[in-house]
Amino acid sequence: MAQLWKGRFKKELAKETNDFNSSIGFDSRMYEEDITGSIAHARMLGDAGIIEKSESEKITAELKNILEDIKSGALEIDLNAEDIHTFVEGELTARLGQTGKRLHTARSRNDQVALDIRLCLRKEIDAVSDMIKELIAVLCDRAGENTLTIMPGYTHLQRAQPITFAHHLMAYVSMLCRDIDRLADARRRMNICPLGSGALAGTTYPIDREETARLLGFDGISQNSVDGVSDRDFCIELASALSIIMVHLSRFSEEIIMWCSWEFKFIELDDAFSTGSSIMPQKKNPDIAELVRGKSGRVFGDLTALLTVMKGIALAYNKDMQEDKEAIFDAVDTVKMCLTAFIPMIKTMTVLKENMRNAAARGFINATDCADYLVAKGLPFRDAYKAVGELVALCIDKGLTLETLAIDEYKKVCSLFDEGVYDAINLEKCVLCRLAPGGPSPQSVEAQIKAARKFIEK
Ligand code: ARG
Repeated sequence: MAQLWKGRFKKELAKETNDFNSSIGFDSRMYEEDITGSIAHARMLGDAGIIEKSESEKITAELKNILEDIKSGALEIDLNAEDIHTFVEGELTARLGQTGKRLHTARSRNDQVALDIRLCLRKEIDAVSDMIKELIAVLCDRAGENTLTIMPGYTHLQRAQPITFAHHLMAYVSMLCRDIDRLADARRRMNICPLGSGALAGTTYPIDREETARLLGFDGISQNSVDGVSDRDFCIELASALSIIMVHLSRFSEEIIMWCSWEFKFIELDDAFSTGSSIMPQKKNPDIAELVRGKSGRVFGDLTALLTVMKGIALAYNKDMQEDKEAIFDAVDTVKMCLTAFIPMIKTMTVLKENMRNAAARGFINATDCADYLVAKGLPFRDAYKAVGELVALCIDKGLTLETLAIDEYKKVCSLFDEGVYDAINLEKCVLCRLAPGGPSPQSVEAQIKAARKFIEK
């Protein structure tokens, strides 16, 4: 297919140049956005009297036909075209002759591509947000079933204090709510129409930028034509938001992998969402979680690629910027793919409550509560801390727990202890008493669940 810019050239383009230069292999996915953008542009050209109204109508009608034909499979995108913009315009001209050639009035591929990516990513942001909302809903359900499931909370991967599995899951919900917020924020800044920036210097035609922006659902128009065609901040912002999502999914995956191990055995993944080994018959592997953890590296790579492509190019458009699409599309596709597998994996996993409870019973995770018990009896916290430290050392020596240590031993270390200590260090009680907002008590977690459900509904 012929290039759009042939006039000045005397020789045919070398095949090597065409192969290297072409972007249709990865920008053809924007065909719908390209056509939608062109329809809005053609309408505006007609309304503003820049082309005949009748021609504008012919162009928009035929663009709609082209869109339908691509969707139905009647028209195949020619991968020999330089890019999707060239293909669509070429097809239009093939169908309409002279009239088709009027579409590109007052427009450049530079503002056209800046528009298309925005339209495309805007849609992708909505898709990713919806998937994250689905994950949040699943997590709220799983949390709702586990508000009384005691498990050890960890710091330094050492058992620290008692929490519930619900509370732990809701920590991920907090992260995912921030992710949705970040996507919405990126979308807001992205939703500005660059069309009318032309190649870089705007245009002498009396275009109506507000009209095209309105037709395409933008919140406004870009303020500077040089920036309009050379800005890819919105790709970088989105890649950054997607990278943070992957950090969250990767941390979650790491925990899933640990929880599945015989060392923890806190959960079991459904057979449909785990894999086996070709040699070890006993194996059941958390491959989905491992792949999600691994794919986070890809998305960070995409962000790094975008930052690096953009950091050294003089204003305005440079061909380097064609590299934006593969990176940002890969980041979007990877996140979507990860969520597609991750959500049902979480939905179907079995929670081994007893094992969590047994792990919570070992590791002295009620030691802080034991110290707090002495504080309630009037001892300064530092002295209480020291007394309980001695008790823990004694338990380790004797192979006991704070629950099984005799009251006489308690009294030897501090005379303030009485039988009431056993109630104070009961794990269920320790959790139930943590009533402050944001804490692990069932009431508090129910409130967290309610707030999260409300957040995803709006
Ligand atoms: N395929 C190009 C891209 O993705 C479209 C813009 C071409 N503009 C140009 N001046 N060569 O960036």
